[in-house]
Amino acid sequence: MVLGLGPRTSVAIVGIGTQGRRLAYMWSSRGNDVHLVDAQVSQLEGSHEVIEGFRSASALKDARWGKVFTHLPDGLSAALQDAWLVVECVPEQLSVKRKVLAQLDALAADEVIIASNSSSYTCSEILDTLKLRNARRFLSAHSYWPPETPELEIMGHETTDPAHITTMMERSKAHGFSPFHVKVGSMGFIYNRIWAAIKREALLAASEGVAAPEEIDAIFRGVLKTPKGPFEQMDVVGLDVVLAIEQHYADARGNIPSEPREYLRTLLQSGRLGVKSGRGFYNYKL
Ligand SMILES: NC(=O)c1ccc[n+]([C@@H]2O[C@H](COP(=O)([O-])OP(=O)(O)OC[C@H]3O[C@@H](n4cnc5c(N)ncnc54)[C@H](O)[C@@H]3O)[C@@H](O)[C@H]2O)c1
Repeated sequence: MVLGLGPRTSVAIVGIGTQGRRLAYMWSSRGNDVHLVDAQVSQLEGSHEVIEGFRSASALKDARWGKVFTHLPDGLSAALQDAWLVVECVPEQLSVKRKVLAQLDALAADEVIIASNSSSYTCSEILDTLKLRNARRFLSAHSYWPPETPELEIMGHETTDPAHITTMMERSKAHGFSPFHVKVGSMGFIYNRIWAAIKREALLAASEGVAAPEEIDAIFRGVLKTPKGPFEQMDVVGLDVVLAIEQHYADARGNIPSEPREYLRTLLQSGRLGVKSGRGFYNYKL
């Protein structure tokens, strides 16, 4: 069944990496179209196969899939033409996020909700230095690994229109997400604050030689009865993204140990980015 959404029916996603592809699957899973924008042709091309993979594995009954359109950044206006929501999913770097959000503010019609998927930058931080046409339609919509992990954290900033929070809570739920409203500004949202501490301590223990990553994963899985350990999960996230997030916590809080970041940098210097590069803490088939 196609979900009726009013005159604007599609969702645009800017940045089609690990998360952007998952969001494309989710937002097109009730019959509405998605428009994907990325600076790299290879990312746009690769996204079709990944989205198809999610669709063929889907257990959704009477699924009706929306169309997937791809655009380079010069096609951003076309991508926004009938969008009710645009989500930025570009790398966790403040300058890149600011540039993209400023473009979206300039190009998107006033009623379009503009969301950031940043894991550690609040909307207030990203928008801080920007002069915007309409700041009230900006909010954070932070996803995990949908469809397997459909939790989504919705957080406004000082002037976000509360009606947009309600729309996001309702429509994300209708698209298979499990949304949570983060009620006050919080760096790292709800679960990610806990996850940041787990990652940091696991990396610190491994860097001290207390135990190897696979041993830490094994004890973690065993005690918490959870399918993945922290190193397996960091590989899924991408070690460059893990480092960028940890660096942001360190910059903001100032009292965070440097060893976890140094350990990650050593891996990244030898091209180990996690699942997406075929090697992180573990090896993967690409
Ligand atoms: N990886 C995760 O598990 C995860 C989970 C939750 C949230 N996030 C957040 O999602 C965001 C993206 O993370 P990711 O892991 O998907 O990153 P990624 O590196 O896998 O993908 C980023 C994509 O953005 C594209 N890009 C870069 N600059 C661009 C620009 N100016 N215009 C258009 N496209 C551009 C890149 O080509 C790439 O395809 C980050 O803010 C991250 O914190 C990631």
